[in-house]
Amino acid sequence: MHNIDYINPLRDPADQRLPRIAGPCALILFGVTGDLSCKKVMPAIYDLANRGLLPPGFALVGFARRDWDHQDFAQVVHDAVKEHSRTPFREETWNQLAAGIRFIDGDLTDPSAYLRIAEVLTDLDIKMGTRGNHAFYLSIPPGLFPAVLENLESSGLASSPTPNSWRRVVVEKPFGHDLTSAKELNKLVDSVFPSGSVFRIDHYLGKETVQNILAVRFANAMFEPLWNCNYVDNVQITMAEDIGIGGRAGYYDGIGAARDVIQNHLLQLLALTAMEEPLSFSADDVRAEKEKVLRAVSVPEDIGAHTSRGQYHEGWQGGIPVPGFLQESGIPADSTTDTFAAMRLNVENRRWAGVPFYLRTGKRLGRRVTEVAIIFKRAPHLPFSSSSVEELSNNALVFRIQPDEGVTVRFGSKVPDTSSIQVRDVTMDFQYGDSFVDTSPEAYERLILDVLLGDPPLFPRHEEVELSWEILDPILNYWATHGAPEQYASGGWGPDSSHEMIARDGRTWRRP
Ligand code: BG6
Repeated sequence: MHNIDYINPLRDPADQRLPRIAGPCALILFGVTGDLSCKKVMPAIYDLANRGLLPPGFALVGFARRDWDHQDFAQVVHDAVKEHSRTPFREETWNQLAAGIRFIDGDLTDPSAYLRIAEVLTDLDIKMGTRGNHAFYLSIPPGLFPAVLENLESSGLASSPTPNSWRRVVVEKPFGHDLTSAKELNKLVDSVFPSGSVFRIDHYLGKETVQNILAVRFANAMFEPLWNCNYVDNVQITMAEDIGIGGRAGYYDGIGAARDVIQNHLLQLLALTAMEEPLSFSADDVRAEKEKVLRAVSVPEDIGAHTSRGQYHEGWQGGIPVPGFLQESGIPADSTTDTFAAMRLNVENRRWAGVPFYLRTGKRLGRRVTEVAIIFKRAPHLPFSSSSVEELSNNALVFRIQPDEGVTVRFGSKVPDTSSIQVRDVTMDFQYGDSFVDTSPEAYERLILDVLLGDPPLFPRHEEVELSWEILDPILNYWATHGAPEQYASGGWGPDSSHEMIARDGRTWRRP
């Protein structure tokens, strides 16, 4: 339910310049001791408060099995904020936020704990004026989803007692581990919360640079005419990380790179890159176009030849020795989990006929970089001698998603010289830092604010999640019956099979 009466009354909905400010509400965080809560969610809440985007009637309720009182939890939030928030620490903001911080010690599977949550929320509605508006944020292991959802329902917490208040649920991935489990999870969530109240987080959609893909494509005249199989040779979507799995063995083992990143982030990037222009930027219109693209994606018949998976072994990164995946604490010595995954996908429609979309992601690669590169075909005719253009490669347009945010256009230009014509690649760069004064908000700031406002366009609906699993399942099933992943050196660019895979098509990976 959209609580229009709480949105900034000065804001004309058609005017996008005035800030969107959340109305009174409480956010109940399940899984407060996890990495995600401390590094992303809590700091983002503080940043929103610091930017004046949270109302005075805002409460943050932590839930975990810890012998903590409200003060202990407030200290945890304080430390997380000090260490990870984007905006400067201000005592005044903190004091205001701290007034609405509560903690409940309990077990996620214990029904009586939910009665205590209800008591605390009723008290906050009175003391902090949160008006019965409650968002439940599930940052918990997937195995606990059923118990938490059932308890939210049976305790009455999932349904709002009055038409003027709302209840929402925020679900962090993984949304299942294959199509069947995703469908079960979606069914369960939808049986407890109406679909408009379910917010599935894919934090990539909260990134400014990801939203910019649609802005660049649809606000300009000069790109869209080239955005099709007549001009595009291939698309390369890379998300490379230099870190290993850190302390996340429990989550990562058995999940692996394809489920962790391709199923959600990279397929969303593909959808934004390949989709048609939406009728409007409303949630329904954008999601409808993304779904059409995902439905049009096909997996090559010869999965072995067109996919690659790997696992990092020990080595050196930035001059420092690093352990291999199998030596990471908590990983069994015979684990076959992929820490690198690459694949070629096709989009079977007129716009993209014959244009391969190459996706790759991996841990412990050469450096941290995420980009979407549109690689164009060569000019149909080159009126130069072959030696003049030997240093000219394909034109490219690259969305630099992170860390060096911006857009690069690569094209050929004459090398200044009086005697001969030499054409070489040059680049034109747009850098966020050069063009905009403010630093970009963190993805979680944007997404949490959207949850509190009930604004859904940046959250994938369950159809997208299921379509993404439909794409990935055949690949995962193939891998499951074809031995262990190939080992690759930490600090490099993945297993040989990934380079061989793209070389088979007569292409090479871009070196980001
Ligand atoms: C998460 C994955 O979704 O994205 C992590 O679970 C990964 O494994 C992270 O490290 C990367 O996010 P970002 O924003 O740093 O690219």
